[in-house]
Amino acid sequence: MTTRRYLEAARATRRRWDSRYAEGETPWDTQITPPEVEAFWRSGRLSPHGVALDLGCGPGTNVRYLARLGLTALGVEIAAAPLRLAQRRLAYEPPVARARAGFVCADVCALPFHALGACYVLDVGCLHSLPPEDRPWYTQSLLANLAPGGYYQLYAFDQVDAPDAMFSSQEPPARGPRGMALGEAARLFTPALEIVEEVIARPERRPCRWYLLRKP
Ligand SMILES: C[S@@+](CC[C@H](N)C(=O)[O-])C[C@H]1O[C@@H](n2cnc3c(N)ncnc32)[C@H](O)[C@@H]1O
Repeated sequence: MTTRRYLEAARATRRRWDSRYAEGETPWDTQITPPEVEAFWRSGRLSPHGVALDLGCGPGTNVRYLARLGLTALGVEIAAAPLRLAQRRLAYEPPVARARAGFVCADVCALPFHALGACYVLDVGCLHSLPPEDRPWYTQSLLANLAPGGYYQLYAFDQVDAPDAMFSSQEPPARGPRGMALGEAARLFTPALEIVEEVIARPERRPCRWYLLRKP
């Protein structure tokens, strides 16, 4: 893809998400950190030190949670409206957590940093919305910034077969993410990452699952 076409596509993505926020169509914005994320941090697999990334962080609920735990938490988000909300909500955090949290306006498929050495990368509902042809770029960006021994936790809708015609890679659906096909996590991330867990979650609007992967 040429730079110009890439920039046009990124602007279109940003506009699409900004209009969702402007219309208040944001059912994911519960301001509650998912219990699965809390369970990961309670599990003791990692201690809460070092850098954590939240890809497609939206209004930053999980960035604030990770910063409160003690991590240096960085949210990456393409749209302007959720970033404004994230900054506004961050102001209510205790100063220590506020100092550990930050937000970057960027495309998760072209992260503006490399070798960040994150011990933990979270994605709640971003990868599953990306066009299939962009997903390998997301993989590259993720792998470049996850430290050896680091974990990647992902929440994604399953791909539904019925409306496939709507989900062609040329014409993204106006509403609703494409989801992840069966076996897609393995295709995108292994063998660079190992799949530690793949758990079918209680359906939320659509069948969905939680994935936990680790960089050896
Ligand atoms: C379903 S929302 C989830 C937001 C947040 N993770 C949460 O759980 O509240 C998906 C978010 O990903 C962002 N997003 C979509 N495509 C993106 C991209 N290519 N780069 C960065 N952010 C993106 C959207 O703007 C949106 O805020």
